[in-house]
Amino acid sequence: MAKTRTVYVCSICGNESLKWLGRCPQCGEWNTYVEKTTSSTGSAGSYIAPAEVQELAAISLEDVPRIPLNSSEFNCVLGGGIVPGSLVLISGDPGIGKSTLLLQMAGALAEKEGKVLYVSGEESASQIKLRAERIGLSGNGLFILPETRIENVVNSAQDLSPDLVIVDSIQTAYVEGAGAAGSVAQVRECTLRLMQWAKSSGIPVFLVGHVTKEGAIAGPHVLEHMVDVVLYLEGEHFSSYRLLRGAKNRFGSTDEIGIFEMRDRGLFEVANPSQALLSHRTEGAIGTVIVPTLEGTRPLLVEIQALTNPTNFGMPRRTASGFDFNRLLLIAAVLSRRGGISLSDQDIIANVAGGIRVNEPAMDLGLALAIASSARNAKMSPTMATIGEIGLSGELRPVSQIEKRVAEAAKLGMQTVLLPPTSSDLSTPSGVELKTVSTLLEALKVGLQSK
Ligand code: TYD
Ligand code: MG
Repeated sequence: MAKTRTVYVCSICGNESLKWLGRCPQCGEWNTYVEKTTSSTGSAGSYIAPAEVQELAAISLEDVPRIPLNSSEFNCVLGGGIVPGSLVLISGDPGIGKSTLLLQMAGALAEKEGKVLYVSGEESASQIKLRAERIGLSGNGLFILPETRIENVVNSAQDLSPDLVIVDSIQTAYVEGAGAAGSVAQVRECTLRLMQWAKSSGIPVFLVGHVTKEGAIAGPHVLEHMVDVVLYLEGEHFSSYRLLRGAKNRFGSTDEIGIFEMRDRGLFEVANPSQALLSHRTEGAIGTVIVPTLEGTRPLLVEIQALTNPTNFGMPRRTASGFDFNRLLLIAAVLSRRGGISLSDQDIIANVAGGIRVNEPAMDLGLALAIASSARNAKMSPTMATIGEIGLSGELRPVSQIEKRVAEAAKLGMQTVLLPPTSSDLSTPSGVELKTVSTLLEALKVGLQSK
């Protein structure tokens, strides 16, 4: 027989205690303990049938059927479509476009497959209708449930038996007796209930999770280890590009990214992101350099811009947007000491055009050349791209997947690629010349055109 036991749970952080406490020793909040009765059989036992022991060799591998979405970018990030019974978490800053993306996917899937249930705890049915009209959805087969109580959500989903359930957002969902909505205990309990339902019914569930100010999903990563797939929707608010990135995927690679553009009628796939990013470029401008970076496994041509300006007052300022600030400090220091470019009386403003973030050292050489170009008022050839990591002694280091990057540069009309020495068996597309340089000084000499 199941034994019941009473514990007290902090409604903010989920810390458990056998007796009531006025102040939580874990999160330090006052008066947050609520009484909770637990059964020793555990809640999971009531949902899931006992599993069989099977020998691995005896398991026949039938292809996991996947439900394809109408967006190839989304499918690619998921690893080829939605796996039945999987739990997918989509998180990102508020207002970045999570609801828009999911409503679009849901609408298209409903038209093709039959039924999708969209549970919204944040918006009313008429607000969702307004959004659907804006993005041009017919709404056939798309069912809206403005509900926050998870028991009701599960019951409705059970009755409707749709092809996909979307819960927007997990922070507004609640179950009776687990504390305040949005608290770690609630978020964990709700996710657990939805996971059990998804696994037992074989119907995939998408959860929306807002990222908190500190950058973590509410309830320090409590959701991430429970779900099968974690996707982040990222982008700068001022820019229209959105990146869908896989952070965890039990059914595919996490190297894939999807690129979308937010327009007035919803999110659209960007077929050729490099071209879109370079479309506003002024060719041959001073202080701009093209760098073929890698986003996951996907090459992306970005434009790095830098502007140097004599410091008027006090300490010289450095501003970096779209990449790590410390990289700018490092490159500026190496340029001063090893490149012979004095920057101690110059402000430096550098950014990656288009609101894209670049996180790899392969952009070092491009950044250095952009700064040097501005400081010396010398142009770079508009058809030259650069790749390379810079070491502290001014040496250039090779970067990964050069062939892919060079091929992408060639596709966009680049004729020369400046890069560190690489293995000689590199196959280069016709029309592209590789110029290898081994130090920063050499790169400055070859890269910058003298006036
Ligand atoms: P939303 O999907 O509500 O964000 P989230 O669910 O991540 O909080 O997106 C909100 C933003 O998207 C809002 O600022 C307006 C913008 N938007 C467009 O630019 N075009 C559109 O067609 C839609 C529906 C939204
Ligand atoms: Mg939303």
